[in-house]
Amino acid sequence: MPGQTNVKTRANHRSSAGPLDEFFRLLRANGLLSTIRRIRSFLLLKLHKNLVDRRHEGRESVATSAVIEIEPDMVVGANAAHAVHYSPTPRKVFKWLMECVPLDIRQCTFVDYGSGRGRVLMAAARLPFRQVIGVEFSRELHDDARKNLATMPRALKRAQGVRSINADAATFEIPQGPCVLYFYNPFTGNVLDAVLKRISNARAERETELYCVFFNMENLAGIEMRYRFERCKLPFWPGLKLKLFAPYTYAVCLVLRQDRYQ
Ligand SMILES: C[S@@+](CC[C@H](N)C(=O)[O-])C[C@H]1O[C@@H](n2cnc3c(N)ncnc32)[C@H](O)[C@@H]1O
Repeated sequence: MPGQTNVKTRANHRSSAGPLDEFFRLLRANGLLSTIRRIRSFLLLKLHKNLVDRRHEGRESVATSAVIEIEPDMVVGANAAHAVHYSPTPRKVFKWLMECVPLDIRQCTFVDYGSGRGRVLMAAARLPFRQVIGVEFSRELHDDARKNLATMPRALKRAQGVRSINADAATFEIPQGPCVLYFYNPFTGNVLDAVLKRISNARAERETELYCVFFNMENLAGIEMRYRFERCKLPFWPGLKLKLFAPYTYAVCLVLRQDRYQ
């Protein structure tokens, strides 16, 4: 039975409106196209959860699937206002995204920015990365991730080192060497800006490549233009699976070398 913690899950906040009320509310607020997109996302998330992710939950020390609101008293640092809630990446989506990274990952460090309860860390640990690092500012979610990593069967771990760090991502230094930097919509505003500038500056000072993998990020085109990230063409099969079954937008981007930001 997965462990329980005290964090507030999204279900506690849910209103009593029925699905039809919710549909008309969305339609009024967002228009038809956006409502269809949201319904597609909702259905695909359910599909991933029920067909794939639920099967893994019994093996997790703390179940990773809840949606959790982030409150200021849960976190280290003062950036709770820029945080998006915790929710986990569907396992298959993460697998397909990693199949799209055009690097020899045995030389690479993988970083999950906002690693939550560690689902992505466990999935990345199954791949032969040189090291896997999660940065999570919620004390409780970071503790949950540590429990999950500690109880993961040794035989499944192919990465050489795996750890969760309890820190604000805005303060995290990019590790040396080639890196795959993963973002599942963790934060917005000044925090996102500070982190992406840091990545761009790190690339300005080194020869080795950096790739950013984005899932459900707003304004991806704007991010690419502003920080000079070049979107990669995805290989056929994982690209097709993502096109059909990813609930949200995604991109694999090479960080181009440019002058440092001041
Ligand atoms: C959408 S969840 C993604 C969880 C995990 N990466 C995954 O894909 O399964 C975003 C996470 O980012 C964390 N987060 C938000 N702002 C942060 C910050 N400034 N520093 C570190 N973590 C942050 C939240 O606490 C939350 O756990």
